[in-house]
Amino acid sequence: MTIENTGLKLPAGVALRLASPADLDAIMLLEQECFAAEAWSRQNIQAELTEPHTYYVVLQDEGGNLLGYAGLSKLSSSDQSDIQTIAVSPSQRGQGFGKILMRALLDEAVARHAKECFLEVRADNPVAESLYRTLGFEQIDVRKNYYRPSGVDALVMRLDLRRYAPVVLGIETSCDETGIGIVRGNQLLANVISSSMDEHARFGGVVPEIAARAHLEALRPTMVKALEEAKLTLDEIDAIAVTNGPGLGGALMVGVGAAKALAVATGKPIYAVNHLVGHVGVDVLERGELEVPTIALLVSGGHTSLLLVRNLLDDVELLGETIDDAAGEAFDKVARVLGLKYPGGPEIDRAAADGDPKAIRFPRGLSLPKDMAEHRYDFSFSGLKTAVARHVEVAEASGQSYSKADVAASFREAVVDVLVTKAVNACLDYDVPRLLLGGGVVANRRLREVAAEQCAKQGIELRIPAFSLCTDNGAMIAALGAQLIMAGRRPSSMGFSAESTLAVTDVQ
Ligand code: KG4
Ligand code: ZN
Repeated sequence: MTIENTGLKLPAGVALRLASPADLDAIMLLEQECFAAEAWSRQNIQAELTEPHTYYVVLQDEGGNLLGYAGLSKLSSSDQSDIQTIAVSPSQRGQGFGKILMRALLDEAVARHAKECFLEVRADNPVAESLYRTLGFEQIDVRKNYYRPSGVDALVMRLDLRRYAPVVLGIETSCDETGIGIVRGNQLLANVISSSMDEHARFGGVVPEIAARAHLEALRPTMVKALEEAKLTLDEIDAIAVTNGPGLGGALMVGVGAAKALAVATGKPIYAVNHLVGHVGVDVLERGELEVPTIALLVSGGHTSLLLVRNLLDDVELLGETIDDAAGEAFDKVARVLGLKYPGGPEIDRAAADGDPKAIRFPRGLSLPKDMAEHRYDFSFSGLKTAVARHVEVAEASGQSYSKADVAASFREAVVDVLVTKAVNACLDYDVPRLLLGGGVVANRRLREVAAEQCAKQGIELRIPAFSLCTDNGAMIAALGAQLIMAGRRPSSMGFSAESTLAVTDVQ
Protein backbone atom coordinates (compact mmCIF):
# COMPACT_ATOMS: atom_id res chain seq x y z
CA MET A 1 0.00 0.00 0.00
CA THR A 2 1.51 3.31 -1.04
CA ILE A 3 1.40 6.03 1.57
CA GLU A 4 -0.12 9.26 0.40
CA ASN A 5 1.61 12.01 2.27
CA THR A 6 1.82 15.37 0.58
CA GLY A 7 4.49 16.60 3.00
CA LEU A 8 6.99 13.92 1.99
CA LYS A 9 8.87 14.46 -1.23
CA LEU A 10 10.11 11.24 -2.73
CA PRO A 11 12.80 11.15 -5.42
CA ALA A 12 11.62 9.90 -8.80
CA GLY A 13 11.22 6.15 -8.91
CA VAL A 14 11.23 5.75 -5.14
CA ALA A 15 8.11 4.51 -3.36
CA LEU A 16 7.18 4.50 0.30
CA ARG A 17 4.71 1.86 1.45
CA LEU A 18 3.61 -0.11 4.48
CA ALA A 19 5.76 -3.13 5.22
CA SER A 20 4.13 -6.55 5.05
CA PRO A 21 5.21 -10.05 6.08
CA ALA A 22 6.11 -10.60 2.42
CA ASP A 23 9.00 -8.16 2.93
CA LEU A 24 10.51 -10.27 5.68
CA ASP A 25 13.28 -11.86 3.57
CA ALA A 26 14.42 -8.57 2.12
CA ILE A 27 14.25 -6.88 5.52
CA MET A 28 16.31 -9.65 7.12
CA LEU A 29 19.01 -9.27 4.46
CA LEU A 30 19.21 -5.54 5.05
CA GLU A 31 19.03 -5.97 8.82
CA GLN A 32 22.07 -8.23 8.71
CA GLU A 33 23.92 -5.97 6.31
CA CYS A 34 23.34 -2.95 8.56
CA PHE A 35 23.59 -4.40 12.05
CA ALA A 36 25.61 -7.64 11.65
CA ALA A 37 26.01 -9.26 15.03
CA GLU A 38 23.48 -6.89 16.58
CA ALA A 39 20.75 -7.65 14.03
CA TRP A 40 17.31 -8.61 15.27
CA SER A 41 16.14 -12.17 14.82
CA ARG A 42 13.68 -13.16 12.12
CA GLN A 43 11.01 -14.04 14.72
CA ASN A 44 11.48 -10.70 16.35
CA ILE A 45 10.98 -8.74 13.13
CA GLN A 46 8.10 -10.93 12.05
CA ALA A 47 6.33 -10.22 15.34
CA GLU A 48 6.99 -6.49 14.96
CA LEU A 49 5.50 -6.39 11.48
CA THR A 50 2.24 -7.92 12.62
CA GLU A 51 1.66 -6.17 15.98
CA PRO A 52 -1.31 -3.78 15.87
CA HIS A 53 0.52 -1.06 17.80
CA THR A 54 3.46 -0.93 15.39
CA TYR A 55 3.83 0.89 12.11
CA TYR A 56 6.49 -0.34 9.69
CA VAL A 57 7.27 1.25 6.34
CA VAL A 58 9.64 0.36 3.53
CA LEU A 59 11.25 2.42 0.79
CA GLN A 60 11.80 0.68 -2.50
CA ASP A 61 13.11 1.52 -5.95
CA GLU A 62 11.42 0.92 -9.29
CA GLY A 63 12.77 -2.63 -9.46
CA GLY A 64 11.16 -3.40 -6.09
CA ASN A 65 14.53 -3.46 -4.32
CA LEU A 66 14.45 -2.50 -0.67
CA LEU A 67 16.28 0.77 -0.01
CA GLY A 68 15.40 1.00 3.67
CA TYR A 69 12.81 0.33 6.30
CA ALA A 70 11.77 1.72 9.65
CA GLY A 71 9.28 1.03 12.40
CA LEU A 72 7.38 2.88 15.08
CA SER A 73 5.58 1.62 18.15
CA LYS A 74 2.71 3.47 19.80
CA LEU A 75 0.45 1.90 22.38
CA SER A 76 -3.05 3.30 22.34
CA SER A 77 -2.96 3.63 26.13
CA SER A 78 0.04 5.97 26.03
CA ASP A 79 1.02 9.45 24.82
CA GLN A 80 4.47 8.15 23.97
CA SER A 81 5.82 6.56 20.83
CA ASP A 82 9.12 4.87 20.07
CA ILE A 83 11.20 4.53 16.97
CA GLN A 84 11.85 0.79 16.99
CA THR A 85 14.35 0.60 14.18
CA ILE A 86 15.52 2.36 11.04
CA ALA A 87 17.88 1.06 8.40
CA VAL A 88 19.03 2.35 5.02
CA SER A 89 20.96 0.13 2.65
CA PRO A 90 24.69 1.04 2.90
CA SER A 91 24.87 1.58 -0.88
CA GLN A 92 21.95 4.05 -0.72
CA ARG A 93 23.06 6.39 2.06
CA GLY A 94 23.45 10.15 1.73
CA GLN A 95 20.30 10.60 -0.36
CA GLY A 96 17.94 11.66 2.39
CA PHE A 97 16.19 8.28 2.66
CA GLY A 98 16.71 8.17 6.43
CA LYS A 99 14.93 11.47 6.81
CA ILE A 100 12.03 10.36 4.62
CA LEU A 101 11.59 7.20 6.70
CA MET A 102 11.80 9.14 9.95
CA ARG A 103 9.27 11.68 8.80
CA ALA A 104 6.87 8.95 7.73
CA LEU A 105 7.07 7.48 11.23
CA LEU A 106 6.77 10.83 13.00
CA ASP A 107 3.77 11.83 10.87
CA GLU A 108 2.13 8.58 11.89
CA ALA A 109 3.01 9.19 15.56
CA VAL A 110 1.27 12.58 15.31
CA ALA A 111 -1.70 10.98 13.56
CA ARG A 112 -1.91 8.45 16.40
CA HIS A 113 -1.98 11.36 18.88
CA ALA A 114 1.41 10.74 20.44
CA LYS A 115 2.89 13.73 22.26
CA GLU A 116 6.45 12.45 22.49
CA CYS A 117 8.72 10.15 20.54
CA PHE A 118 11.79 8.34 21.87
CA LEU A 119 14.67 6.53 20.24
CA GLU A 120 18.07 5.08 20.99
CA VAL A 121 21.07 5.70 18.80
CA ARG A 122 24.58 4.31 18.98
CA ALA A 123 26.95 6.81 20.56
CA ASP A 124 29.40 6.09 17.72
CA ASN A 125 26.94 7.02 14.96
CA PRO A 126 27.17 10.82 14.63
CA VAL A 127 25.46 10.82 11.20
CA ALA A 128 22.27 9.29 12.60
CA GLU A 129 22.45 11.45 15.71
CA SER A 130 22.67 14.59 13.62
CA LEU A 131 19.67 13.53 11.50
CA TYR A 132 17.62 13.07 14.66
CA ARG A 133 18.73 16.45 15.95
CA THR A 134 17.64 18.17 12.75
CA LEU A 135 14.21 16.63 13.30
CA GLY A 136 14.15 18.15 16.79
CA PHE A 137 15.25 15.19 18.95
CA GLU A 138 17.27 16.02 22.04
CA GLN A 139 19.46 13.72 24.06
CA ILE A 140 17.97 12.96 27.48
CA ASP A 141 20.04 10.04 28.73
CA VAL A 142 22.92 7.64 28.03
CA ARG A 143 22.66 3.89 28.47
CA LYS A 144 26.11 2.53 29.10
CA ASN A 145 27.15 -0.66 27.27
CA TYR A 146 23.71 -0.89 25.73
CA TYR A 147 24.58 -2.54 22.44
CA ARG A 148 25.69 -6.14 22.62
CA PRO A 149 28.17 -7.59 21.95
CA SER A 150 30.03 -4.36 21.03
CA GLY A 151 29.39 -2.65 24.35
CA VAL A 152 28.77 0.69 22.63
CA ASP A 153 26.67 3.20 24.62
CA ALA A 154 23.18 4.20 23.50
CA LEU A 155 22.11 7.81 23.53
CA VAL A 156 18.46 8.11 24.43
CA MET A 157 16.79 10.91 22.50
CA ARG A 158 13.37 12.48 22.84
CA LEU A 159 11.28 14.59 20.50
CA ASP A 160 8.44 16.75 21.69
CA LEU A 161 5.96 16.11 18.88
CA ARG A 162 4.39 19.47 19.57
CA ARG A 163 7.65 20.84 18.25
CA TYR A 164 7.76 18.47 15.27
CA ALA A 165 4.24 19.43 14.17
CA PRO A 166 2.93 22.18 16.44
CA VAL A 167 -0.71 23.22 16.28
CA VAL A 168 -0.56 26.99 15.86
CA LEU A 169 -3.36 29.52 15.74
CA GLY A 170 -2.42 32.57 13.66
CA ILE A 171 -4.01 36.00 13.98
CA GLU A 172 -3.80 38.53 11.15
CA THR A 173 -5.20 42.07 11.44
CA SER A 174 -2.71 44.25 9.58
CA CYS A 175 -5.17 45.74 7.09
CA ASP A 176 -8.86 45.16 6.44
CA GLU A 177 -8.97 41.36 6.75
CA THR A 178 -9.46 39.71 10.12
CA GLY A 179 -7.81 36.38 9.48
CA ILE A 180 -7.60 33.41 11.83
CA GLY A 181 -5.76 30.35 10.58
CA ILE A 182 -4.83 27.09 12.24
CA VAL A 183 -2.07 24.75 11.11
CA ARG A 184 -0.45 21.58 12.37
CA GLY A 185 3.17 21.87 11.29
CA ASN A 186 2.96 22.43 7.55
CA GLN A 187 -0.60 21.22 7.29
CA LEU A 188 -3.48 23.66 6.92
CA LEU A 189 -6.38 22.94 9.30
CA ALA A 190 -8.44 26.13 9.03
CA ASN A 191 -8.38 29.48 7.28
CA VAL A 192 -11.24 31.81 8.14
CA ILE A 193 -11.41 35.41 7.00
CA SER A 194 -13.76 38.22 7.82
CA SER A 195 -13.26 41.29 5.67
CA SER A 196 -14.39 44.84 6.38
CA MET A 197 -13.90 45.71 2.70
CA ASP A 198 -17.57 46.63 2.18
CA GLU A 199 -17.41 49.18 4.98
CA HIS A 200 -14.57 50.98 3.19
CA ALA A 201 -16.22 50.93 -0.22
CA ARG A 202 -17.85 54.34 -0.01
CA PHE A 203 -14.49 55.92 0.90
CA GLY A 204 -12.68 54.30 -2.02
CA GLY A 205 -9.93 52.89 0.17
CA VAL A 206 -9.25 51.35 3.57
CA VAL A 207 -10.06 53.72 6.45
CA PRO A 208 -7.74 52.72 9.33
CA GLU A 209 -10.15 53.57 12.15
CA ILE A 210 -12.97 51.60 10.55
CA ALA A 211 -10.64 48.64 9.96
CA ALA A 212 -9.51 48.61 13.60
CA ARG A 213 -13.08 48.67 14.92
CA ALA A 214 -14.13 45.94 12.51
CA HIS A 215 -11.26 43.72 13.73
CA LEU A 216 -12.43 44.18 17.28
CA GLU A 217 -15.89 42.95 16.39
CA ALA A 218 -14.80 40.18 14.03
CA LEU A 219 -11.99 38.61 16.04
CA ARG A 220 -13.96 36.44 18.40
CA PRO A 221 -16.50 35.00 15.94
CA THR A 222 -13.73 34.43 13.38
CA MET A 223 -11.69 32.51 15.93
CA VAL A 224 -14.65 30.41 17.01
CA LYS A 225 -15.32 29.54 13.38
CA ALA A 226 -11.66 28.63 12.74
CA LEU A 227 -11.56 26.31 15.76
CA GLU A 228 -14.78 24.70 14.53
CA GLU A 229 -13.33 24.25 11.06
CA ALA A 230 -10.18 22.66 12.50
CA LYS A 231 -12.31 20.56 14.89
CA LEU A 232 -10.16 21.67 17.80
CA THR A 233 -10.68 23.33 21.13
CA LEU A 234 -8.51 26.20 22.32
CA ASP A 235 -6.90 23.74 24.75
CA GLU A 236 -5.51 21.73 21.85
CA ILE A 237 -3.60 24.69 20.40
CA ASP A 238 0.13 24.54 21.15
CA ALA A 239 1.02 28.16 20.36
CA ILE A 240 -0.32 31.47 19.13
CA ALA A 241 1.20 33.53 16.31
CA VAL A 242 0.24 37.08 15.48
CA THR A 243 1.18 39.68 12.87
CA ASN A 244 2.89 42.56 14.62
CA GLY A 245 3.78 44.48 11.44
CA PRO A 246 4.04 45.98 8.95
CA GLY A 247 0.52 47.34 8.52
CA LEU A 248 -1.95 49.87 9.86
CA GLY A 249 -1.00 50.74 13.45
CA GLY A 250 -4.48 50.68 14.98
CA ALA A 251 -5.49 47.52 13.11
CA LEU A 252 -2.32 45.70 14.16
CA MET A 253 -2.86 46.74 17.78
CA VAL A 254 -6.19 44.93 17.90
CA GLY A 255 -4.64 41.62 16.80
CA VAL A 256 -1.59 42.01 19.02
CA GLY A 257 -3.75 42.83 22.05
CA ALA A 258 -6.05 39.89 21.42
CA ALA A 259 -3.14 37.49 20.91
CA LYS A 260 -1.43 38.60 24.11
CA ALA A 261 -4.64 38.29 26.10
CA LEU A 262 -5.17 34.82 24.70
CA ALA A 263 -1.60 33.80 25.52
CA VAL A 264 -1.88 35.07 29.09
CA ALA A 265 -5.28 33.48 29.66
CA THR A 266 -4.25 30.07 28.28
CA GLY A 267 -0.58 30.04 29.25
CA LYS A 268 0.39 29.27 25.65
CA PRO A 269 3.58 30.59 24.01
CA ILE A 270 3.21 33.48 21.60
CA TYR A 271 5.14 34.29 18.41
CA ALA A 272 5.03 37.80 16.93
CA VAL A 273 5.70 37.49 13.20
CA ASN A 274 6.25 39.60 10.12
CA HIS A 275 3.30 39.93 7.76
CA LEU A 276 5.37 40.13 4.56
CA VAL A 277 7.45 37.09 5.44
CA GLY A 278 4.15 35.33 6.17
CA HIS A 279 3.07 35.91 2.55
CA VAL A 280 6.21 34.05 1.43
CA GLY A 281 6.10 31.30 4.06
CA VAL A 282 2.54 30.33 3.14
CA ASP A 283 4.02 28.16 0.40
CA VAL A 284 4.89 25.49 2.99
CA LEU A 285 1.18 24.77 3.35
CA GLU A 286 1.00 23.65 -0.26
CA ARG A 287 4.45 22.23 -0.90
CA GLY A 288 5.59 20.99 2.50
CA GLU A 289 8.58 23.28 2.42
CA LEU A 290 9.70 26.55 0.93
CA GLU A 291 12.18 26.16 -1.87
CA VAL A 292 14.97 28.68 -1.51
CA PRO A 293 16.44 30.89 -2.68
CA THR A 294 13.38 32.55 -4.08
CA ILE A 295 12.41 36.03 -5.17
CA ALA A 296 9.02 37.07 -3.84
CA LEU A 297 6.82 39.79 -5.31
CA LEU A 298 4.19 40.88 -2.80
CA VAL A 299 1.49 43.11 -4.20
CA SER A 300 -1.61 44.17 -2.32
CA GLY A 301 -3.57 47.24 -1.32
CA GLY A 302 -1.03 47.94 1.40
CA HIS A 303 2.31 46.82 0.05
CA THR A 304 4.42 46.34 -3.05
CA SER A 305 7.64 44.65 -2.08
CA LEU A 306 10.29 42.66 -3.85
CA LEU A 307 12.14 40.28 -1.56
CA LEU A 308 15.12 38.00 -1.90
CA VAL A 309 14.56 35.07 0.44
CA ARG A 310 17.59 32.88 1.04
CA ASN A 311 16.20 31.44 4.25
CA LEU A 312 12.67 32.13 5.44
CA LEU A 313 13.54 32.46 9.10
CA ASP A 314 16.75 34.40 9.04
CA ASP A 315 17.76 35.65 5.64
CA VAL A 316 15.13 37.80 3.99
CA GLU A 317 16.33 40.86 2.13
CA LEU A 318 14.16 43.72 0.93
CA LEU A 319 15.36 44.46 -2.61
CA GLY A 320 12.83 47.18 -3.26
CA GLU A 321 9.37 48.51 -2.55
CA THR A 322 7.00 51.21 -3.64
CA ILE A 323 8.10 54.73 -2.93
CA ASP A 324 4.51 56.00 -3.03
CA ASP A 325 1.27 54.07 -3.70
CA ALA A 326 0.98 50.31 -3.37
CA ALA A 327 0.02 48.44 -6.56
CA GLY A 328 -3.47 47.58 -5.28
CA GLU A 329 -3.93 51.15 -4.12
CA ALA A 330 -3.13 52.32 -7.66
CA PHE A 331 -5.86 50.03 -9.00
CA ASP A 332 -8.28 51.39 -6.39
CA LYS A 333 -7.46 55.04 -7.15
CA VAL A 334 -7.62 54.64 -10.92
CA ALA A 335 -10.92 52.79 -10.57
CA ARG A 336 -12.27 55.86 -8.81
CA VAL A 337 -11.06 58.12 -11.63
CA LEU A 338 -12.89 55.85 -14.08
CA GLY A 339 -16.04 55.87 -11.97
CA LEU A 340 -15.64 52.21 -11.01
CA LYS A 341 -16.33 50.65 -7.63
CA TYR A 342 -13.98 49.73 -4.76
CA PRO A 343 -11.98 47.51 -4.66
CA GLY A 344 -10.70 48.65 -8.00
CA GLY A 345 -8.61 45.65 -9.01
CA PRO A 346 -11.39 43.30 -10.08
CA GLU A 347 -13.37 46.20 -11.63
CA ILE A 348 -10.43 47.25 -13.76
CA ASP A 349 -9.73 43.66 -14.72
CA ARG A 350 -13.31 43.42 -15.95
CA ALA A 351 -13.31 46.78 -17.73
CA ALA A 352 -9.98 45.96 -19.39
CA ALA A 353 -11.24 42.73 -20.89
CA ASP A 354 -12.35 44.37 -24.13
CA GLY A 355 -9.72 47.11 -24.15
CA ASP A 356 -6.54 47.56 -26.13
CA PRO A 357 -3.52 47.49 -23.80
CA LYS A 358 -1.47 49.38 -26.41
CA ALA A 359 -4.04 52.15 -26.96
CA ILE A 360 -2.31 54.59 -24.60
CA ARG A 361 1.32 54.44 -23.63
CA PHE A 362 1.16 55.23 -19.92
CA PRO A 363 4.43 55.80 -18.02
CA ARG A 364 6.28 52.88 -16.43
CA GLY A 365 7.37 54.20 -13.01
CA LEU A 366 11.08 54.07 -12.10
CA SER A 367 11.94 52.21 -15.30
CA LEU A 368 13.99 54.79 -17.18
CA PRO A 369 17.76 54.22 -17.21
CA LYS A 370 18.34 57.21 -14.91
CA ASP A 371 15.91 55.79 -12.31
CA MET A 372 17.13 52.25 -12.66
CA ALA A 373 20.55 53.14 -11.26
CA GLU A 374 19.10 54.07 -7.89
CA HIS A 375 15.73 52.33 -7.91
CA ARG A 376 16.28 49.13 -9.87
CA TYR A 377 13.83 47.19 -7.71
CA ASP A 378 11.66 50.01 -6.40
CA PHE A 379 8.22 50.89 -7.68
CA SER A 380 6.25 54.09 -8.12
CA PHE A 381 2.64 54.27 -9.23
CA SER A 382 1.62 57.80 -8.39
CA GLY A 383 2.89 59.21 -11.70
CA LEU A 384 0.91 56.56 -13.55
CA LYS A 385 -2.23 57.38 -11.58
CA THR A 386 -1.79 61.09 -12.40
CA ALA A 387 -1.26 60.27 -16.08
CA VAL A 388 -4.51 58.32 -16.17
CA ALA A 389 -6.35 61.14 -14.40
CA ARG A 390 -4.91 63.69 -16.88
CA HIS A 391 -5.91 61.55 -19.84
CA VAL A 392 -9.50 61.36 -18.60
CA GLU A 393 -9.61 65.06 -17.68
CA VAL A 394 -8.31 66.18 -21.05
CA ALA A 395 -10.84 63.99 -22.85
CA GLU A 396 -13.70 65.21 -20.69
CA ALA A 397 -12.66 68.89 -20.87
CA SER A 398 -12.62 68.77 -24.65
CA GLY A 399 -15.98 67.09 -24.68
CA GLN A 400 -14.60 63.95 -26.30
CA SER A 401 -15.54 60.55 -25.15
CA TYR A 402 -12.76 58.18 -24.16
CA SER A 403 -12.71 54.41 -24.09
CA LYS A 404 -12.85 53.23 -20.49
CA ALA A 405 -11.83 49.78 -21.67
CA ASP A 406 -8.72 51.11 -23.43
CA VAL A 407 -7.71 53.24 -20.44
CA ALA A 408 -8.24 50.32 -18.04
CA ALA A 409 -6.33 47.90 -20.28
CA SER A 410 -3.47 50.35 -20.88
CA PHE A 411 -3.21 51.22 -17.19
CA ARG A 412 -3.23 47.56 -16.19
CA GLU A 413 -0.58 46.82 -18.79
CA ALA A 414 1.68 49.53 -17.38
CA VAL A 415 1.38 48.21 -13.80
CA VAL A 416 1.86 44.58 -14.81
CA ASP A 417 4.77 45.41 -17.11
CA VAL A 418 6.71 47.12 -14.32
CA LEU A 419 5.90 44.51 -11.68
CA VAL A 420 6.91 41.55 -13.82
CA THR A 421 9.95 43.18 -15.43
CA LYS A 422 11.44 44.14 -12.07
CA ALA A 423 10.68 40.79 -10.47
CA VAL A 424 12.19 38.85 -13.39
CA ASN A 425 15.21 41.18 -13.37
CA ALA A 426 15.74 40.37 -9.71
CA CYS A 427 15.63 36.62 -10.49
CA LEU A 428 18.18 37.05 -13.28
CA ASP A 429 20.44 39.46 -11.36
CA TYR A 430 20.62 37.21 -8.31
CA ASP A 431 20.59 34.00 -10.31
CA VAL A 432 17.46 32.79 -8.50
CA PRO A 433 15.39 30.32 -10.56
CA ARG A 434 12.13 30.89 -8.65
CA LEU A 435 9.53 33.60 -8.32
CA LEU A 436 6.73 33.51 -5.77
CA LEU A 437 3.76 35.87 -5.94
CA GLY A 438 1.63 37.01 -3.00
CA GLY A 439 -0.98 39.65 -2.10
CA GLY A 440 -4.46 40.47 -3.39
CA VAL A 441 -3.27 41.92 -6.71
CA VAL A 442 -2.20 38.39 -7.68
CA ALA A 443 -5.88 37.93 -8.58
CA ASN A 444 -5.14 40.08 -11.61
CA ARG A 445 -5.51 38.01 -14.74
CA ARG A 446 -3.05 39.94 -16.82
CA LEU A 447 -0.43 39.83 -14.06
CA ARG A 448 -0.68 36.04 -13.93
CA GLU A 449 -0.51 35.80 -17.71
CA VAL A 450 2.53 38.04 -18.18
CA ALA A 451 4.35 36.56 -15.17
CA ALA A 452 3.81 33.06 -16.56
CA GLU A 453 5.01 34.13 -20.02
CA GLN A 454 8.13 35.93 -18.83
CA CYS A 455 9.09 33.26 -16.30
CA ALA A 456 8.73 30.51 -18.89
CA LYS A 457 10.91 32.48 -21.28
CA GLN A 458 13.67 32.85 -18.70
CA GLY A 459 13.43 29.36 -17.21
CA ILE A 460 12.12 30.68 -13.89
CA GLU A 461 9.70 28.56 -11.89
CA LEU A 462 6.61 30.60 -11.02
CA ARG A 463 4.79 29.87 -7.76
CA ILE A 464 1.33 31.26 -7.14
CA PRO A 465 -0.31 29.91 -3.98
CA ALA A 466 -4.08 29.31 -3.95
CA PHE A 467 -5.84 32.67 -3.96
CA SER A 468 -7.24 32.20 -0.43
CA LEU A 469 -3.63 31.97 0.74
CA CYS A 470 -2.43 34.90 -1.44
CA THR A 471 -4.67 37.54 0.10
CA ASP A 472 -4.15 38.52 3.73
CA ASN A 473 -4.99 35.56 5.96
CA GLY A 474 -4.26 34.03 9.34
CA ALA A 475 -3.06 30.69 7.96
CA MET A 476 0.15 32.26 6.65
CA ILE A 477 0.81 33.74 10.10
CA ALA A 478 0.15 30.39 11.79
CA ALA A 479 2.40 28.66 9.23
CA LEU A 480 5.27 31.05 9.92
CA GLY A 481 4.79 30.60 13.66
CA ALA A 482 4.94 26.82 13.18
CA GLN A 483 8.14 27.15 11.12
CA LEU A 484 9.74 29.10 13.97
CA ILE A 485 8.71 26.49 16.53
CA MET A 486 9.93 23.62 14.36
CA ALA A 487 13.26 25.39 14.04
CA GLY A 488 13.48 25.52 17.83
CA ARG A 489 12.98 29.29 18.18
CA ARG A 490 11.93 30.70 21.52
CA PRO A 491 8.59 32.47 21.86
CA SER A 492 8.51 36.25 21.69
CA SER A 493 8.63 38.00 25.03
CA MET A 494 5.42 39.76 25.95
CA GLY A 495 7.02 43.18 25.51
CA PHE A 496 6.59 43.25 21.72
CA SER A 497 4.31 45.83 20.19
CA ALA A 498 2.52 46.55 16.93
CA GLU A 499 5.01 48.09 14.51
CA SER A 500 3.50 49.58 11.39
CA THR A 501 6.87 49.86 9.63
CA LEU A 502 8.41 46.56 10.78
CA ALA A 503 11.35 45.66 8.50
CA VAL A 504 11.34 42.34 6.62
CA THR A 505 14.60 41.43 8.30
CA ASP A 506 12.59 41.12 11.53
CA VAL A 507 10.97 37.77 10.80
CA GLN A 508 10.03 37.20 14.43
O1 KG4 B 1 -4.07 41.31 -0.24
P1 KG4 B 1 -5.29 42.13 -0.16
O2 KG4 B 1 -6.59 41.44 -0.04
O3 KG4 B 1 -5.07 43.00 1.10
C1 KG4 B 1 -5.10 44.32 1.31
O4 KG4 B 1 -4.20 45.01 0.83
O5 KG4 B 1 -6.04 44.69 2.03
O6 KG4 B 1 -5.32 43.07 -1.43
C2 KG4 B 1 -6.38 43.92 -1.77
C3 KG4 B 1 -5.97 44.71 -2.96
C4 KG4 B 1 -6.93 45.83 -3.35
O7 KG4 B 1 -6.21 47.00 -3.54
C5 KG4 B 1 -7.53 45.32 -4.65
O8 KG4 B 1 -7.88 46.36 -5.55
C6 KG4 B 1 -6.43 44.47 -5.22
O9 KG4 B 1 -5.84 43.85 -4.11
N1 KG4 B 1 -6.96 43.51 -6.16
C7 KG4 B 1 -6.65 43.50 -7.46
C8 KG4 B 1 -7.43 42.50 -8.06
N2 KG4 B 1 -8.20 41.92 -7.10
C9 KG4 B 1 -7.89 42.56 -5.94
N3 KG4 B 1 -5.80 44.25 -8.16
C10 KG4 B 1 -5.69 44.01 -9.47
N4 KG4 B 1 -6.43 43.09 -10.11
C11 KG4 B 1 -7.30 42.31 -9.46
N5 KG4 B 1 -8.02 41.42 -10.12
ZN1 ZN C 1 -0.58 41.42 2.83
